[in-house]
Amino acid sequence: MTTLQTFLTAKRSLEDRALNRVVWHRFVEELSGRASSEEPVRILEIGLGTGSMIARLAEWEALPLQVTYRAIDIDPETLAVARRKLPERLQTAGYTVETTDNVIRAHKESTGPDRTLEITLETGDAFETTDHADAVIASAVLDLVELSEALEAITQLCADDGLLYAPFTFNGHTSFRPSEPADPTIERLYHRHMDEIREQPGGSRAGQQLLTALPAAGYRILEAGGADWVVHPTDGVYPADEAVVLEFLCSTIDSALAEYPPTTLDPETRTRWINKRREQLESGELTLVAHHMDVLAELS
Ligand SMILES: C[S@@+](CC[C@H](N)C(=O)[O-])C[C@H]1O[C@@H](n2cnc3c(N)ncnc32)[C@H](O)[C@@H]1O
Repeated sequence: MTTLQTFLTAKRSLEDRALNRVVWHRFVEELSGRASSEEPVRILEIGLGTGSMIARLAEWEALPLQVTYRAIDIDPETLAVARRKLPERLQTAGYTVETTDNVIRAHKESTGPDRTLEITLETGDAFETTDHADAVIASAVLDLVELSEALEAITQLCADDGLLYAPFTFNGHTSFRPSEPADPTIERLYHRHMDEIREQPGGSRAGQQLLTALPAAGYRILEAGGADWVVHPTDGVYPADEAVVLEFLCSTIDSALAEYPPTTLDPETRTRWINKRREQLESGELTLVAHHMDVLAELS
């Protein structure tokens, strides 16, 4: 069975493709505009998962020269994987790394001034903490929370003109190819599960809801755009570990649909659908499209 942590790590490659570059470049530019020679730029990440965003920022040289990066995840198991994997990823990005229990100090020489990146890893509820960060990152998180409460909490984490970068906020579309007769029912019930059935808050339209919730919470939207996951095989082979993402998503959909009574969804329809999708995955025929929004806003 694919673990959550394996899934989170495996989706990095497809998200590198999917990331909305207009929103990303503006984020990088705004971060750089907050840099000074006296103080490091302070970044706080909510729900870092296994650390893909930190690795991406470091590998793509998108960080200002001096950064303190506070990264919080509520799940100790996930944080443990991030703690284990990040030093090696930073070394791959050209940093020299020193690690103590929860702090990773990374340093990179360059032709200009050197880069320093000090990462503090914490387990806990990020919405229950306070800070004064120049930028808050919440990647694939804001569709899992009650939006207005989360934005209120994020306001407590931001400096006066602090940034909120929220890439991969799910936005109401999950589809597979080849098409199957049960697809419309499966997709509708899967999204309804996010909105009405699961215990976890959040919803299937969180991406577009951000576009009104952010101004209502006192933020100015700087950029917003689509970031679609597209996972497809070439000659029957999936890139990197992306078959893992498809397997995890199929299992997630199956578990969600299992919560409906037979009067809403015939268990046979569900089993037939999931078995077919797993066969297609096995034979390298399954394609996924899932729609997300990337949003960058500034506290005003
Ligand atoms: C869908 S995952 C996304 C992980 C990572 N940002 C990524 O894009 O790969 C959501 C992450 O948020 C974490 N999380 C959920 N609620 C949280 C909270 N209140 N405080 C901190 N982390 C939280 C989960 O444990 C999980 O690692």
